Amino acid sequence: MRFDVFTLFPGIFESPLKESMLKRAIESGLLEVQLHNIRDYAEGRHQVTDDYPYGGGGGMVMKPEPVFAAVEGVLGTGDRGLGIGDQDAGQSAISNRQSTIPIVLLTPQGRLFNQQIALELAQYDRVALICGRYEGFDERIREHLATDEISIGDYVLTGGELAALVVVDAVIRLKPGVLGDPTGASDDSHASGLLEYPHYTRPPEFRGWRAPEILLSGDHAKVDRWRREQALLRTWRRRPELLDRAELSELDRAFLRQLAHE
Ligand SMILES: C[S@@+](CC[C@H](N)C(=O)[O-])C[C@H]1O[C@@H](n2cnc3c(N)ncnc32)[C@H](O)[C@@H]1O
Repeated sequence: MRFDVFTLFPGIFESPLKESMLKRAIESGLLEVQLHNIRDYAEGRHQVTDDYPYGGGGGMVMKPEPVFAAVEGVLGTGDRGLGIGDQDAGQSAISNRQSTIPIVLLTPQGRLFNQQIALELAQYDRVALICGRYEGFDERIREHLATDEISIGDYVLTGGELAALVVVDAVIRLKPGVLGDPTGASDDSHASGLLEYPHYTRPPEFRGWRAPEILLSGDHAKVDRWRREQALLRTWRRRPELLDRAELSELDRAFLRQLAHE
């Protein structure tokens, strides 16, 4: 899978892409991250990429010309259905415009990133991510270039680069072959709609705290049921609203009824 990242600060990506799983995914050809410096597409001697906001106020706004030039220069304009109409990112569809390559604007105003959106993006072979800086983007970038807008949380970062890295990391680990354990992502918190069960490793006893005996028992059926119940319990305690959308068996429902009763 290829990510084209448009940024004013490509250096921010260097270290995260050179470590651990992302590094391995790149080395094995499962991940390609192409960094495009928006400044390289700005015209004039000073290659200006930002300007004062119309109407006054503090801060600078990212100019549309270099961002359009960068994205169109790399992706072309052919298959992106430019000009079909305005879009409102909303919380559902990736886009209401034609696009074979999602062009994602990182913005605190976008739809809130979650595992479902990571899964949506993982269906693509190529995704473009545009990182903002300063006060953000000239609105015409949002209206006429981006096909999706993603926020990684209800807080404001200084720039979109860390948000882009979060998206790359969450999406690429869903691609077959990226995780060492092929089933690793399926039990993760949020993958099944529940928070994941607790993990333990050696030693069996640490400072007097024992790992649950059932995990050492070798009885796989019992371990599976224990883990499922722990996941249900944890979700019920910490994020009960997730249970409304989780896929639950009759056994799960009975367990939850018992919890509520107790
Ligand atoms: C200081 S922020 C601009 C915030 C903007 N003035 C607003 O209130 O919506 C600069 C850039 O950081 C990125 N950014 C900040 N918070 C983000 C978040 N929660 N999710 C994704 N990107 C974010 C965006 O690319 C944004 O253009």
